[in-house]
Amino acid sequence: MTETTAARSLAPAPFDVERVRRDFPALHQEVHGKPLAYLDSAATALKPRVVIEAVDRMYERDTANVNRAVHLLSQRATLAYEGAREKVAKFLGAKEPAEVVFVRGTTEGVNLLAQTLGRTKLRPGDEVLITELEHHSNLVPWQMACEATGATLSVVPVTDEGEVTLRAFREKLSPSTKIVAVAHASNTLGTVLPVREIAELCHEAGAVVVVDGAQAVPHLTVDVQALGADFYVFSGHKLYGPTGIGAVYGRRALFEALPPWQGGGSMIHTVTFRKTTYKGLPDRFEAGTPDIAGAVGLGAAVDYVSALDRAALASHEKDVLDYATSRLSKVPGLRIVGTAPDKIGVVSFVVEGIHPHDLGTLVDGEGVAVRTGHHCTQPLMERYSVPATARASFGMYTTRAEIDQLVRAVEKAKELFS
Ligand code: ALA
Repeated sequence: MTETTAARSLAPAPFDVERVRRDFPALHQEVHGKPLAYLDSAATALKPRVVIEAVDRMYERDTANVNRAVHLLSQRATLAYEGAREKVAKFLGAKEPAEVVFVRGTTEGVNLLAQTLGRTKLRPGDEVLITELEHHSNLVPWQMACEATGATLSVVPVTDEGEVTLRAFREKLSPSTKIVAVAHASNTLGTVLPVREIAELCHEAGAVVVVDGAQAVPHLTVDVQALGADFYVFSGHKLYGPTGIGAVYGRRALFEALPPWQGGGSMIHTVTFRKTTYKGLPDRFEAGTPDIAGAVGLGAAVDYVSALDRAALASHEKDVLDYATSRLSKVPGLRIVGTAPDKIGVVSFVVEGIHPHDLGTLVDGEGVAVRTGHHCTQPLMERYSVPATARASFGMYTTRAEIDQLVRAVEKAKELFS
């Protein structure tokens, strides 16, 4: 090998975004007569063909219930379903597949934990600590658990830039803190939280750490053990998988000690009218027929993402984020909400004189899909004194050209309102 080839082989391979885009059928369409620029991946990501085909195949060929019958189709369905659990466990860095429980998504996962961990661990006077940037799904279930147990919800504030500092965390942690529930990345601001350091602090204080990974899994390489997360929850549909499926990871020692939350088939050991005994992990938390095809589709999404060069993907996503931040911040009257140094591909913004909903409608007319509203983070809107924002969020398939299309659409909207 010559010196030049050696050097070349060490250089990171560039991310081939055009090749990836060919895998996503939904990208290749026009809306309102304009090419689609889909900048709403934080709400839900588009699906690659392999995911769509994996779900189709389950319904076309392997339709049967899992864990129930001895016939071949049921065996195939069970193998595929449990295979998906193995893939998710490996993807998250869990010790074993049984530490992964399938749920409908992040919201259901947090509710599972709030109703089991929350209700068994919390006593009057205890505290659940969250941050000011949490999505309602990592806030309301804890508030409900507090109301049911007499515990208190306590909140770590964010800085003007949208950061959550360790100092702010230290100030809020106390011997009463029993559960800490934090986002790994903010859906509204894009901020990546220092979860590993937060978990260390919380464990020293004796608290259990629950991480909402909904926005992080599509962008960051997650290792629940290295992060020190006791529980980690995410949704498949933001990870290029189907809607209606997600997972809760829980460290075995804690997870298996929790009581079941939904009763029914599959989660029982023995049933009499007098008493029922329950199975262990993961069945104890999967009452009823699960979303089998959804789980298999999620497994296909995990395979798809895992096969990519994650370092090259991360640098592509950073390039798109930096480009969007720089282009948007040059638009007169536009203010970006959330400017932390460590962010995933999310840019929330407001434009002077245009309500975000009007802006969203006008840019949609130019083929650009962004989300507008409070993004299920009403307390955060109050924190930044805005009623709503427009939010552009990116996926692996997002290009600089789509950012240019967004900027042109915003400029056109401004002209209409001037
Ligand atoms: N949680 C999703 C979002 O941020 C729906 O858009």
